[in-house]
Amino acid sequence: MDIIEIMRASPVMPVIVLNDIVHAVPLARALVTGGIRVLEVTMRTPVALDCMRAIRDELPEAIVGAGTIKNPADLDAAIKAGAQFGVSPGTTPALLAAIAESRLPFLPGTMTPSNVMAVVDAGFHAMKLFPAQQAGGIGMLKALGSVFAETHFCPTGGITAATAADYLALPNVTCVGGSWLAPSAMIEAGDWQSISQLAEEAARLKVR
Ligand code: 3PG
Repeated sequence: MDIIEIMRASPVMPVIVLNDIVHAVPLARALVTGGIRVLEVTMRTPVALDCMRAIRDELPEAIVGAGTIKNPADLDAAIKAGAQFGVSPGTTPALLAAIAESRLPFLPGTMTPSNVMAVVDAGFHAMKLFPAQQAGGIGMLKALGSVFAETHFCPTGGITAATAADYLALPNVTCVGGSWLAPSAMIEAGDWQSISQLAEEAARLKVR
């Protein structure tokens, strides 16, 4: 799958932070059961790579990506752990070059028109907008859309169940990202049923 197909596979990409490997597969299963099969496991905890491997082994229907990739070494580790796509909060020239060389489907992080131009120049037409709400939210995406009409965005950061639909109604928003589908309290409590319910609601959101 290319990155656009991955974005189109789910209106919402859950941003997942896992502190304990025992939660990885039950969480992923709860999300997939609810209809969300694109999963971004962030590389923010020591167990993230093992969690990604476990989900890939147990749930072949999931599309498992690595998030919070900040440099070429993170990218390399994510690929070795079997990541099917990658997401970064921002970019550096070194990271962009490594992503292009790896050919891993990828959403490079952007927040300004200059970032968008650098990422497009490097050959990417899909990217994350981060932190989306703080960067100007809907108004920012409309403004970017008028100059970068061909660019697909996955806004992430500050988006909620209540605001996701407004983002998804924009022509340049192909999916949104957010942590609200995998709240840490529900993960710690093993409340997989509530997580499946959140996923069901998110899976029903319409993309323009
Ligand atoms: C991210 O990790 O991309 C964002 O921090 C997710 O933001 P949210 O917690 O506001 O959804």
